[in-house]
Amino acid sequence: MRSNTDFLVIGSGVAGLFYALKAAEHGNVSIITKKNIKDSNTLHAQGGIASVFDLEDSFELHIRDTIEAGCGLTDKDAATLVVKNGPARIRELISLGVKFDTKPFSESENEAEFSLDLGLEGGHSRKRIVHALDMTGHELETVLSKLVKTHPRIKVFENHLALDFITDSKESHGMISCNGVIALDSTSLEIKSFLSKITVLAAGGSGSVYPYTSNPDIATGDGIAMGYRAGASVANLEFMQFHPTCMCNSDGRCFLISEAVRGEGGILKDSSGNPFMHKYSPLKDLACRDIVARAIHSELKNGEKIFLDISFKDPGFVKKRFPNLYKKCLEMGFDMTKEPIPVVPAAHYMCGGVITDRKGQTDIKRLYVIGEAACTGLHGANRLASNSLLEALVYAHEADLSACEEAEKIKAGSLLHDALERFERKNMRHAEITEVERIKTAIKDTMWNYAGIVRSDKGLAEGLKIIRGLRKQATELFDTKAINSHTAELRSIAEISEMIMTSAAMRKESRGLHFNQDHPEKDDSLKKNTILRKSCC
Ligand code: SIN
Repeated sequence: MRSNTDFLVIGSGVAGLFYALKAAEHGNVSIITKKNIKDSNTLHAQGGIASVFDLEDSFELHIRDTIEAGCGLTDKDAATLVVKNGPARIRELISLGVKFDTKPFSESENEAEFSLDLGLEGGHSRKRIVHALDMTGHELETVLSKLVKTHPRIKVFENHLALDFITDSKESHGMISCNGVIALDSTSLEIKSFLSKITVLAAGGSGSVYPYTSNPDIATGDGIAMGYRAGASVANLEFMQFHPTCMCNSDGRCFLISEAVRGEGGILKDSSGNPFMHKYSPLKDLACRDIVARAIHSELKNGEKIFLDISFKDPGFVKKRFPNLYKKCLEMGFDMTKEPIPVVPAAHYMCGGVITDRKGQTDIKRLYVIGEAACTGLHGANRLASNSLLEALVYAHEADLSACEEAEKIKAGSLLHDALERFERKNMRHAEITEVERIKTAIKDTMWNYAGIVRSDKGLAEGLKIIRGLRKQATELFDTKAINSHTAELRSIAEISEMIMTSAAMRKESRGLHFNQDHPEKDDSLKKNTILRKSCC
């Protein structure tokens, strides 16, 4: 099948859906998404969206907090753009029907935004987290996916996995251009071509390259890997954010315990019930995530078990503020209103990604990247809590402003097709699922052991050697067996893992989320982005 559209969106988290609704004002939009429309990292976002609404707050303070969290690598212009445009994007969400929590007794009920109930999270000097209980992402996905699904100019292709961009380098002085994507319909196993004037990659993150993650299984870094394969520059993949507080069951499946719990007074305690964060930061439990995750890691290494305690608060308040967390914890055998709950850090958010400018444009023509797959410069070496949904919204808007102008100049007939034949595997067998699982598990374990919260030169060199071997095996499976979602995802996991490991090995200092025990300090002569391009690795 070959289809043609004005705007093609890959991914259906908040970035993709918000962008699609905007793009549909100017033309036809197709969204391809790996599973069901709501399946995304956004769906699991609990905390909320950081933005300046409190009269005691200011753009300057939010920009300052963002830059401080970013440990020297945040781009001030990106931070200014995102912070200053935040309130407008949140008002837009409200006008689309998204319901955020409001204060029970607001004095200014005519002005919806001033009655927003604002939460606090680590690294924020003011209350500024706009939220929908502890299910902000769920609310966003529910409202936006409904609007998208009923929009007459938007077509949604669920269970479609993007495999590669359709590119050519014939125009514009050798600059690569994007004409759409080749995708796998994972139900029929048909390989399809989606041609488009503008392609917007909003394919999310890559937490699932680690065995312990707050992300759903689908977060396999497909988008970043695809961008890299097509020749786009990617940056800062060593900055994987580990969320300090997840609850993992005996199978290793983890569930996020929102930072908002600490924002409401929750305290981290060791096995003896003693708070310990004062040993690591004057901000204690509300220090930035890199600090809290490393502190927990260090306590765990000393043989402690770590607990998050909010049981001293009014149980009615806890149940009302965190209904979903309360329920999930009960399912896992813990009543958070009565007892401290066990927590561990787990992979949560990729701060690096495909490099974009202020409009979401990459160095491939007509290819935009927004959301977690992008590296806009906002997060630097460590993302400030709840800045991710904000960044996704602001860049979806900026990308739309730029892309609609660009699309007007393109004639649909001028787009080049790719040879679908390179994906045809008519007479080939499917890979054994046990073989795919073996390679996947080996990759995840290697990533956890060598590119986890604390790294070392020797470990990264060893890890890179192992990952390269596994990546070769994954590539061979993809190239020589019938294509299905298992081999396609394995290819992404292997490629993105090699890129994360390579980037981590390149940074010979400790900064933000990247901690190398052989170089435990920041080295400002190395204060720059780690950039990978296909030709250089
Ligand atoms: C959380 O609720 O702790 C996650 C929010 C975020 O990742 O910014």
